[in-house]
Amino acid sequence: MTKSVQQGSIVSDAASVTDVVLAAMSRTENPRLKEILNALVEHGHAFLNQVKLSDDEYEQGLDFLRRVGLTCTDSHNEVVLLADVLGYSTLVKVLNNSMREDRTGGALLGPFFRDGSPHYELGASIVQEDTTATPIFVSGRVLNIRREPIQGARVDVWQASPIGLYENQDPDQPEMNLRGHFFTDANGDFHFRSLRPAGYPVPTHGPVGDLLRIQRRHPYRPAHLHFVVFAEGHDTLISQIFADDAEYLDSDVTFGVTRDLIGKFDRHEARSGPRPGQQAPYYTLHCEFLLAQGTPTRPVPPIK
Ligand code: BEZ
Ligand code: FE
Repeated sequence: MTKSVQQGSIVSDAASVTDVVLAAMSRTENPRLKEILNALVEHGHAFLNQVKLSDDEYEQGLDFLRRVGLTCTDSHNEVVLLADVLGYSTLVKVLNNSMREDRTGGALLGPFFRDGSPHYELGASIVQEDTTATPIFVSGRVLNIRREPIQGARVDVWQASPIGLYENQDPDQPEMNLRGHFFTDANGDFHFRSLRPAGYPVPTHGPVGDLLRIQRRHPYRPAHLHFVVFAEGHDTLISQIFADDAEYLDSDVTFGVTRDLIGKFDRHEARSGPRPGQQAPYYTLHCEFLLAQGTPTRPVPPIK
């Protein structure tokens, strides 16, 4: 065989593989999709050329991805988890944020967002069980980038419990506990009552857990609340607010913490502070969300 023969998909040597594959994909009609797929092949091949995987290593890698898929269920998304612990989700968020300087920064959606959370009136509690855990009173305002209030914005919130579990992970919590959505009033304001969330380990029962152990990384996220803010005429904001006193604030396993997303979790003693009627210590938190003009979209829930 001569090395110079180049017909269709016939590969002559390692250097020719990339061009042969790109040629095979060249009829992709959607130009943006074509750009993305071409780059995926070019960078993927560059990676393989750089690290020169053995056959064994290649098979181990493919088997890892197979196990990532098999670990997914209706209530657990290992693919999202993998993207998160590799920093992919945060990189995409940060790249997209840097194009929109004056709006609130986004943060990764994570694997625990669910559709169908209860609608609550402003001021309601999203806690659906009797508990003595420490309450938190959250208030917030949704504004456009001219700092004008947005009325009727939909604010979805979800969080882990004080023992660090989302309700879908914990058979002891009622369905949709610590999840809910609200609509802002004429001042763009919303407020609700909840429980102070705890930091928690991301799920480690699957291949992503194996990866973290091999890399000698801890699996924890600092305590936070998740928000999706959705308003007509504006880009949807997917974000998180982190407790300023949280453990792991500077070592989040998913790299989700940016400075502007650290919220002031103010602790008050019983019968003092802005809610003197409280008979036990409590926290307050205020957040502001600035939305850029754009087209709202609803994120696709990673679980049911
Ligand atoms: C979360 O914040 O819900 C989360 C994000 C990434 C991985 C696991 C959980
Ligand atoms: Fe979370």
